[in-house]
Amino acid sequence: MRVLITGCAGFIGSHLAERLVGDGWHVTGIDALTSYYDPAEKRANLAVLGNEPRFDFVRADIVSAPLTKLLADRPLVVHFAAQPGVRRSFGDGFDQYVHDNILATQRLLEAAAEADCPRVVYASSSSVYGEAATFPCREESTPTRPRSPYGVTKRTCEKLAEIYRGLGLSTVGLRFFTVYGPRQRPDMAIRRLCETAAGGPAFRLNGDGSQSRDFTYVDDAVDATVRALTAAQPARVLNIGGGEEASMNELIELLGSLTGEPIVLRRGGSQIGDVQRTGADTTLARQQLGWEPSVRLADGLRATLDWVFEHRAAGVRVVAAAS
Ligand SMILES: NC(=O)c1ccc[n+]([C@@H]2O[C@H](COP(=O)([O-])OP(=O)(O)OC[C@H]3O[C@@H](n4cnc5c(N)ncnc54)[C@H](O)[C@@H]3O)[C@@H](O)[C@H]2O)c1
Repeated sequence: MRVLITGCAGFIGSHLAERLVGDGWHVTGIDALTSYYDPAEKRANLAVLGNEPRFDFVRADIVSAPLTKLLADRPLVVHFAAQPGVRRSFGDGFDQYVHDNILATQRLLEAAAEADCPRVVYASSSSVYGEAATFPCREESTPTRPRSPYGVTKRTCEKLAEIYRGLGLSTVGLRFFTVYGPRQRPDMAIRRLCETAAGGPAFRLNGDGSQSRDFTYVDDAVDATVRALTAAQPARVLNIGGGEEASMNELIELLGSLTGEPIVLRRGGSQIGDVQRTGADTTLARQQLGWEPSVRLADGLRATLDWVFEHRAAGVRVVAAAS
C-alpha cells in the first residue's frame, strides 16, 4: 500500500509514518520543516525513518510542491501539514495560518481530486467547536463556533473538503482532541509540564487551572488515522478523543505524583482563544472505524515524561517554548 503523508516531520505525522512503515506500507512524506518550533526537532523526529527503504522524504511547501507528480500513482493521502496552535493565530501571525492551513489544503485537495486518489484523511481539530454549550461534543449536532483564527482555518479546511467530497473525492476529517505523547510539540501544555518536571523552567499556568481537556495519546490518534484510510465509507468528520478529561490542576497533580515532586509553577493570565473545556463523543469513530482509545492518561503521561527525560539527557533543550 502507498501513502503520502503531509506534515510527516511533525509530532503526529512522524508517529504515523513510523507506524505505517512498520506495517509494511510505502510512505512518501512531505514537510516544509517550518519554524513554528525548532526544525532540528522535526529532523530528529524523522531520524529512525532515515534508513528505511520504504520511506522517502520530500522537503517542500504543499502550496508550491509538485503535487501532480507526487500523486501520479494515486496513493492514499494523509494531510497533517498545518500551522498549529491557537495563540499565535491572532495578529499578524494569521498570514501563516492562511498559507499553511487554508491555501495548502485547497491545493492538496484539488491535486488529489485530479489524480483520483482513493482517499484523503486530514487533521481537523476540537477547536472547531469553540466554547461548546453542552458536552460531549457530537459531530452532527454540536454547533461549530471556533474561538480563534486557528479554529476558523480548521473549520474552513472542513468546508473545503466538503466541496471536493461533493466532486467525488473521498475525504475524512479527524477532529483531534489535544494529542500528547513522546515528541509532542514544545508549545503544548503536557510537553511544557514534563520539561519542568525534568529540570526545565517553571511551568506557566494560564488562568486558574480549572480549564479541562479531553486528552488523546498519540498512538490512539495514529490508530484512528490508519483505520480512517481504509474504512469502507466513514462520515465526513469524526471526533477522535481519548475519553479521559482532566483539568490543568488535575494534570499537574498527576504528574507530580508520577515524579514524586511538586511541579514548579508560575502563574499567568488566561490566554486569548483558549476554551474552558473540551470533550468528545466518539460514538461515530467507534462505529465506523472500529476504533477506541486504549492508552490511559497516567500511562501516556509516564511515556511522555520518560521521553522528555531521555531527550534532555541527550542534550536537547526547549529554548523558547511558547506558553
Ligand atoms: N497536536 C494536537 O493536539 C492537535 C490537535 C488537533 C489538531 N491537530 C492537527 O494535527 C496536525 C498535526 O499536528 P502536530 O501537533 O503534529 O503539529 P506539528 O507542527 O508537529 O506538525 C505539522 C507539520 O506540518 C509542517 N508544515 C506546516 N506547513 C506546511 C506547509 N505549507 N507545507 C509542508 N509542510 C508544512 C510543519 O513543518 C510540521 O512539521 C495539524 O494539522 C494540527 O492542526 C493537532
